[in-house]
Amino acid sequence: MVRELSMGLIGCGNQGRTLSTVLGRIDGCKLIAVADVNETIAKRFAEEFKVKNYYRDHYELLEKGNVDAVLIAVPHFALKNVSIDCLEAGKPTFVEKPMAKNSIEAKELVEAVERSGAKLMVGYCQRFLASRSLMKNFLDKGIVGEVYLVLAVKGTGLLRGWLLEEPKGGGILRYLGVHLIDQVLWMIGSRAEEVLAEVNVHPTFGVDETVSFIIRFKNSVLASLSLTMRASKSIDSVEVIGSEGHMKSEWRDNYLLVHSSKMIEYANPTTIRFMEDSTYPMFERELREFIASVIEDRTPSINVLDGLRVLEVVDAVLESAQLKRAVKIPHYS
Ligand SMILES: NC(=O)c1ccc[n+]([C@@H]2O[C@H](COP(=O)([O-])OP(=O)(O)OC[C@H]3O[C@@H](n4cnc5c(N)ncnc54)[C@H](O)[C@@H]3O)[C@@H](O)[C@H]2O)c1
Repeated sequence: MVRELSMGLIGCGNQGRTLSTVLGRIDGCKLIAVADVNETIAKRFAEEFKVKNYYRDHYELLEKGNVDAVLIAVPHFALKNVSIDCLEAGKPTFVEKPMAKNSIEAKELVEAVERSGAKLMVGYCQRFLASRSLMKNFLDKGIVGEVYLVLAVKGTGLLRGWLLEEPKGGGILRYLGVHLIDQVLWMIGSRAEEVLAEVNVHPTFGVDETVSFIIRFKNSVLASLSLTMRASKSIDSVEVIGSEGHMKSEWRDNYLLVHSSKMIEYANPTTIRFMEDSTYPMFERELREFIASVIEDRTPSINVLDGLRVLEVVDAVLESAQLKRAVKIPHYS
């Protein structure tokens, strides 16, 4: 019988709140320590979530918290350093996306995982969305035949706070674009080789605000991804077009449209609607996977190399937009 896992949370902001709420619904683990560089926030958070101990930084939490594993939800500029410290303390680490600001930082994390032997999972939660995991399952079964084209779009309103500050790792690409890049890499399962991009920068804040790019994969698939923080409502869709049909999943409306000449039940375009809430079940499945990887002592399903590959594409998008030409993606491994 495995005893209850003692968890620590670093970063008591918006996403820290979501992770703590979800953790409270999972048996076999307990949040026993939280840390935030703003001690007042950490104290209030500990009171609200009935967490035993709070600390003013992650160093103190690692030294005194007596935790088995950590969850990290700090702004992008701090993700890499906090993660490395947790790995070097030997803690299995769940780090929010995008895990680092760029591929140079991501490589430091790859090395820290190799050096420490500790596990790291990256929080690409949308892989656990019911419609996206079914889409991946169907793709793996080949129900749309050979895939030629992927179209993925994300739209939101104006971001806030540090997400509008470039030095802090802000901008739509690192905040939301990375989700789409991760899902497309995961679904296509081939190496991204080249990127051609256009970026519009916000006139006041100077961060990327609307971004559109094409990824060319080694297996010749073309994926077209577009993002904006100028949308009037939240938009999030992924569409895959193949020789035997197509599929489209929309997050907020929680459906998967399937059309396949290979399966009689989908010979006509069919909409599969998911009745669950579109947010919390996804995070719950994500954290269950992290906890299972700790208990079973195995690599989590989204690992540090997945995180690196996303950031290699991010770097290529920004470089391509600056150079006004297509950019090859240099692969680490
Ligand atoms: N998976 C998702 O759907 C999702 C959704 C929202 C945010 N996120 C990710 O979560 C992370 C945090 O975003 P957020 O919206 O919660 O930000 P936030 O600003 O709401 O919260 C960040 C918190 O971290 C604290 N902090 C800053 N530096 C720290 C450090 N070195 N050590 C400890 N605490 C520190 C801040 O004081 C703040 O309380 C980001 O990586 C973001 O991309 C993921």
